[in-house]
Amino acid sequence: MNVPFYEKLWMWAAGILIVAFLATIIVGVAGSALAPPSHVETIDPTKVWADPRFANRGTTSDEHGTTVVAVAMMFAFEPNEIRVPAGRPVTFRLTSTDVIHGFQIVGTNGNTMVVPGYVSQFTTVFRTPGEYLIVCNEYCGLAHHVMSAKLIVEEAGP
Ligand code: CUA
Repeated sequence: MNVPFYEKLWMWAAGILIVAFLATIIVGVAGSALAPPSHVETIDPTKVWADPRFANRGTTSDEHGTTVVAVAMMFAFEPNEIRVPAGRPVTFRLTSTDVIHGFQIVGTNGNTMVVPGYVSQFTTVFRTPGEYLIVCNEYCGLAHHVMSAKLIVEEAGP
């Protein structure tokens, strides 16, 4: 059978594309691209309150920066009010005691999923002092829409 030149050309082009797509999948999986974005740290979601990593919830500061430890549950965040300094790196460490929740600090780039069994962590800097709303942005049940907290960014001292 005599296949026209352009027919052959496009068959080869399609074949090369298929190989290229498969290669990106293989490279992606081999490179552990499926890991959570921050880091992998597991926790027993039924023992969060007894876990030393979540025993002291709230804000702590030292020379390296500020850390906020908080727990998400149906349908609240603990603590419910968080105070952090402006203009300094703040690291959030979060986990859930039940289902998947969200932790979004409205009007900032602070946003993460909170997955039971894992510790979610992210670091950000708040430039503008003020009050920010924290909302759950993953549907977690009947009272999902009332699940919120308050972030107060305070003018940092000298
Ligand atoms: Cu928690 Cu929606």
